[in-house]
Amino acid sequence: MNHTLSRFPNAEALAAEAAARWLRAMDQRDQFTVALSGGRIPKLLYAAVAAEASPKAFANAHFFWGDERVVPPTDEESNFKLAAVRLLLALKIPEDQVHRILTERGEAFAVQHAEAEICRIADLDDDGQPILDLVFLGLGEDGHVASLFPGDTVDSPSVYRAVTGPKPPPRRITLGYPALAAARAVWVLASGEGKKDALRASLAPDGDTPLARVLQSRTHTEIFTDFDLA
Ligand code: 6PG
Repeated sequence: MNHTLSRFPNAEALAAEAAARWLRAMDQRDQFTVALSGGRIPKLLYAAVAAEASPKAFANAHFFWGDERVVPPTDEESNFKLAAVRLLLALKIPEDQVHRILTERGEAFAVQHAEAEICRIADLDDDGQPILDLVFLGLGEDGHVASLFPGDTVDSPSVYRAVTGPKPPPRRITLGYPALAAARAVWVLASGEGKKDALRASLAPDGDTPLARVLQSRTHTEIFTDFDLA
């Protein structure tokens, strides 16, 4: 079995448990690299972490993003802003521990800079992919994770790449499949009944959704849900 599925009664309980596990996971490492996601469930995750974290909880943490919309960092659609407002500023995370994707510098520069930063900080595997300690992924109703969408057949070794997705805003920069495969831990926060079909399809042995591709590329992935798959 390449995943563990944990069921929670609601989104708040899911977020509270993910927050508690994240804080525990950081205790064991002298440097902790984490990639954050966008969407709705991270808002609850960040609030739960900010409420529970001790002042030094993130002293060794470096923050990256699994994907970012190509909008200014001040834009309401920015995944960086989502985290900055609810987590990074709340916990006074020093700027040198926050490695946002510099979308305002243009896609080509932002991709190159994000790749250089993540590879500067994280351990690297034999293929030069960053070995992130933890990657958070939301799940789209179509089975997308990060900004890796169905029908994206690009088979690139790039750590990050720019894509056009069906979920607005369309232009995004995303970690590629190799980096998601290389991470020490990937936690999928699949919240909302609307994700049921996508999760069920992704868990099928012959699943071909973006999440299925991630699951099949890894020995283990944690999945947190707030709905029954039955
Ligand atoms: C993004 C996300 C995306 C998101 C899923 C789930 O930038 O949009 O990274 O992958 O996590 O679409 O979003 P919800 O949690 O809002 O359903």
